[in-house]
Amino acid sequence: MNINYLGHSAFDIETKGKHILIDPFLVSVPNYRPENVYNIFVTHGHSDHLGSAIEISKSTGAPITAVFELANYCAEKGAKSIGLGLGSWKEYSWGKVILVPAFHSSSTSDGKYAGCPCGFVFDIEGQVIYHAGDTCLNSEMKVIGELYRPDIAMLPVGGTYTMDIEHAVTASEWLGASEIIPMHYNTFDAIKVDISEFERQIREIGKIPVVKSID
Ligand code: NI
Ligand code: MN
Repeated sequence: MNINYLGHSAFDIETKGKHILIDPFLVSVPNYRPENVYNIFVTHGHSDHLGSAIEISKSTGAPITAVFELANYCAEKGAKSIGLGLGSWKEYSWGKVILVPAFHSSSTSDGKYAGCPCGFVFDIEGQVIYHAGDTCLNSEMKVIGELYRPDIAMLPVGGTYTMDIEHAVTASEWLGASEIIPMHYNTFDAIKVDISEFERQIREIGKIPVVKSID
């Protein structure tokens, strides 16, 4: 499995030749061309997360998995979609996923209600990966840690709209993950951080900060 960072909260996870996209907002990677995309996951309706999901779904045929209302919105725009609620595993050809709570808001850029925002827990090749979406620090992370025991956590650190570095460090402890990938920072002025401070604080609690360069 390869986890490629596409900037902001976007990732391309490759497992045995299959690619899975999460929150494909691709302003940081103008030369990125999706290939062998099997599934697309979108945490909420904000444009910096829905990104190019609908276009990529149309061009590749890969369905978008999202909360029911957002999935319906994507279907209305001509994408394939899989609408789910929070709280039960969904099996895919490459692994399984469960939608978990995120504490944020969710609407589309044309003002439509997009259901509740979510995070995702992926189980791929025996590795458990948590993508938090946009969220504040919240006690559900203790539940996610206890129930799913993530190995890797992708956490927003930019502040203003989400958790900041300090709360991401607390989240890392609650989640119990050993590798922490920061996201949702430095894309805009409002979420500028000194990422070396994240690395220092994550090391201080005995975990591995995985600051990915943008592929
Ligand atoms: Ni958002
Ligand atoms: Mn966002």
